[in-house]
Amino acid sequence: MNSTTRHSGRSYAEVYRESIEQPEKFWLGAAEAVEWEKPPTRALDASAAPTYRWFPGATLNTCFNALDRHVRDGHGDRAALIYDSAMAPDASRTYSYAQLLDEVSRFAGVLTERGVATGDRVIIYMPMIPEAAIAMLACARIGAVHSVVFGGFAAKELATRIDDAGPVVLVTASGGLEPGRIVEYLPMVEKALELSATPPHTVIVKAREQIPGSAADYRGSAATWFDWDTLIADASPAQPVPVAATDPLYILYTSGTTGKPKGVIRDNGGHAVALTWSMKNIYDIGPGDVWWTASDVGWVVGHSYIVYGPLLAGATSVLYEGKPVGTPDAGAFWRVISDHGVSALFTAPTAIRAVRKADPDAREVAKYDISSLKALFVAGERLDPDTYAWTTKILDRPVVDHWWQTETGWAICANLLGLQPMPIKPGSPTVPVPGYRVEVLGDNGNPLPAGTEGQIVIALPLPPGALTGLWRDPDRYTRAYLAAFDGYYLTGDSGYIDEDGYVFVLGRSDDVINVAGHRLSAGSIEAVVAGHPAVAESAVVGIRDELKGQRPSGYVVLKAGADVDPDTLRSELVAMVRDQIGAVAAFRDVTVVPALPKTRSGKILRKTVRQIVDRDVYTVPSTIEDTTVLEILEKQLRS
Ligand code: COA
Ligand code: AMP
Repeated sequence: MNSTTRHSGRSYAEVYRESIEQPEKFWLGAAEAVEWEKPPTRALDASAAPTYRWFPGATLNTCFNALDRHVRDGHGDRAALIYDSAMAPDASRTYSYAQLLDEVSRFAGVLTERGVATGDRVIIYMPMIPEAAIAMLACARIGAVHSVVFGGFAAKELATRIDDAGPVVLVTASGGLEPGRIVEYLPMVEKALELSATPPHTVIVKAREQIPGSAADYRGSAATWFDWDTLIADASPAQPVPVAATDPLYILYTSGTTGKPKGVIRDNGGHAVALTWSMKNIYDIGPGDVWWTASDVGWVVGHSYIVYGPLLAGATSVLYEGKPVGTPDAGAFWRVISDHGVSALFTAPTAIRAVRKADPDAREVAKYDISSLKALFVAGERLDPDTYAWTTKILDRPVVDHWWQTETGWAICANLLGLQPMPIKPGSPTVPVPGYRVEVLGDNGNPLPAGTEGQIVIALPLPPGALTGLWRDPDRYTRAYLAAFDGYYLTGDSGYIDEDGYVFVLGRSDDVINVAGHRLSAGSIEAVVAGHPAVAESAVVGIRDELKGQRPSGYVVLKAGADVDPDTLRSELVAMVRDQIGAVAAFRDVTVVPALPKTRSGKILRKTVRQIVDRDVYTVPSTIEDTTVLEILEKQLRS
């Protein structure tokens, strides 16, 4: 890859330095790419530090920036959203900017008519269909705050999010299509409403012809149910409502270390500025380019780069309902690239590993014309050097790892292809993105020398687009992210920075498990396992998995006298986790152990259990209560 500078003619080093040393100049400059109702005169508001706000006093509408302004500027006929369904190919269709604007405005009208006002929350529990993006943009249009819940979560997880967000309306569909089965959403929604202390007053259902169930089946529910198509047919379009840059655009729940998910709050102004800047400078994507993020709207990657980022940039976004393999084969990615002339694809390394497993010699690639593809971006978990090497070989294009989190909303570290492409070092997501001051600290808070592993932190303030807090829980925001090291945001990842300034992210240093790019908390799975009558206590840890990166594995101590067959126990626990958290937890391993290692204060040493199972070298924690437990476990789990 060459390392010349791109659009701006400025080097990465120069741009990065300006972002850190002159943040006002840098971010007010970036803000000029967004259209404001009232433009910002200041970038940063540090008056409530360590909580920061971006673009105080400015107003805008995110949906206007994503849709109306492109139509107004004469690009109404340009494709905005290509819905490509490998699960229901007949349903595939393309929306021009003008058509998408029409649908979104009318659904925004539906929400208004159903009583949704600016600042109200709307839960969106949808599969990968265009209506998911339409519902999100419709909320943004009227200043309502959406909270999308991933379709792979079951009723209890949905209910937890309903109770925390306090929505007035829930938007859903009759279901999702998974290979070999349909997932009916409506019984899960109804169960979630029953479990919820504060159910929404209205449920709106997009009925899909492939999946049974409709609003009419749920008379007598805690909410009033309506059919999407009926409501939208009569709706009057709603106009965009300007909101404060600092007002929330959405809440997205993510797993923390405890069972209770964290409601990450994203603002309107900082988000629009950061994503617009990222499309050009990180991804090198502009108006009319076809961009494809193969993820799900339920994850942050889907929010930022299926919906908002590409539309803010005036590009065409592919929304793909299907898998990389098995729908119907390992050529699915190459087929979509060739059908739509995709310029850049963004996916998770686990998806590439799935393709490689099914098609190790990449025979499928040769069947398609993928000449439009300029680069492949991956995130969600570390891109292991082996997968990097294979992908680079079969594609012969830049394969760019970049590191980010639900909390940051966009990349913390990347190889900025649109600014100045840099040589790739396998295993590294390259360098800090402008706006992010990344450091590695030891447990005592001292900066560590190059090459030494420690806690990766980001000096405050976080740049625009990053979370502005946790919904209804400012104390948890401070405790979880800001309390560990004064003046820094704790990422929860460990790693190091090398002598060239390249960052290497090695994995989570807390109890968050990353399964196939999906983030799960050990605590929430343990809470389900604890509900089994034979279980005294358990540790759930993320162990290494060749395909999914990690998989959750449960180590269970039985109650004294409990007489249960291990296979029966396993299938009961697997069913309980699937029922209460969802299939996406992919929980299949259960091992009965005589005891779990603990600290003297009773905390289970999950990390040590994981290291034993993964056969990693480990040091016996000085706080351990009883070292013989480790010897027994090692003998059992490593034999
Ligand atoms: N609704 C309902 N169920 C879902 C679901 C959804 N939206 N998504 C996944 N599931 C189910 C799957 O059907 C599977 O069920 P099963 O146990 O009955 O087989 C289970 O959850 C586990 O799913 P997953 O671990 O995702 O495996 P998979 O075989 O369905 O897909 C990948 C494998 C690699 C395609 C998929 O994990 C993937 O795309 N991961 C990337 C995630 C991502 O985009 N992260 C964001 C960063 S880019
Ligand atoms: P999520 O919030 O679901 O996006 O998950 C964020 C976590 O995924 C991070 O804290 C990392 O542990 C991991 N992650 C995401 N991208 C990368 C990457 N490129 N390299 C290493 N880890 C990553």
